[in-house]
Amino acid sequence: MSETHFGFQKVDEAQKADRVRGVFNSVAARYDVMNDLMSMGLHRAWKAYAVAAADVRPGQRVLDLAGGTGDLARAFAKKVGAGGMVVHTDINEAMLRQGRDRLLDEGLVLPTSICDAEVLPFASGGFDLVTVAFGLRNMTHKDRALAEMNRVLRPGGRLLVLEFSKVAQPLSKAYDWYSFNVLPRLGQWVAGDADSYRYLAESIRMHPGQAELKAMMKSAGFGHVDVHNLSAGVVALHVGIKC
Ligand SMILES: C[S@@+](CC[C@H](N)C(=O)[O-])C[C@H]1O[C@@H](n2cnc3c(N)ncnc32)[C@H](O)[C@@H]1O
Repeated sequence: MSETHFGFQKVDEAQKADRVRGVFNSVAARYDVMNDLMSMGLHRAWKAYAVAAADVRPGQRVLDLAGGTGDLARAFAKKVGAGGMVVHTDINEAMLRQGRDRLLDEGLVLPTSICDAEVLPFASGGFDLVTVAFGLRNMTHKDRALAEMNRVLRPGGRLLVLEFSKVAQPLSKAYDWYSFNVLPRLGQWVAGDADSYRYLAESIRMHPGQAELKAMMKSAGFGHVDVHNLSAGVVALHVGIKC
């Protein structure tokens, strides 16, 4: 059995998805409020940047993977209009339910599917845009997931990966202090769960940095990949073109 990382721990590959499911089952109900608190609202700006960079047109077909509580799906649904389609997906039912209920409350009814980004239940070449925000980091086989994202895109279609990345060196000490001291305490206080937010901080450190992820996307079949650093590299948006 091969091993992989779950934060700083080494676990059997077969266990990782269950451990990640446990994290998101635990935090689903408080996920949105924690996002606002932890990032001091910045996650909204990072997502708005990704939506602007996507430049989605009316009528286009968008697949949002690891879509959770639906921030990107909602924004893209407004852009593609009635003639387009946004499919809102996640591997975790609790997260997807939160998202679906929230979108329904806002009058948005989107096709919603529980699915594992590593084995997508969609035909090849059917989407203009695939997005994954803060999800890739949690996947066991990132290479398989990226290859699947490439497969379901039409030629010329784009993949947007919005994810935590490697922060600029002068900020790293302060960022580490915040991540390992403040986040778990905030998680305990707001969501009653320090461990899941410790996992968040650890998983960010284990995730490939800007250049490594760009190379992985190229290996997965994206002929051109642009990297946009946001907030000094706390987050990066990777835009890959299938060509
Ligand atoms: C941090 S949340 C991000 C939610 C949302 N995209 C956002 O930006 O707010 C990460 C999500 O990735 C999902 N996830 C983890 N592994 C996955 C996989 N293999 N396939 C699809 N989704 C996955 C989790 O269930 C969780 O909802």
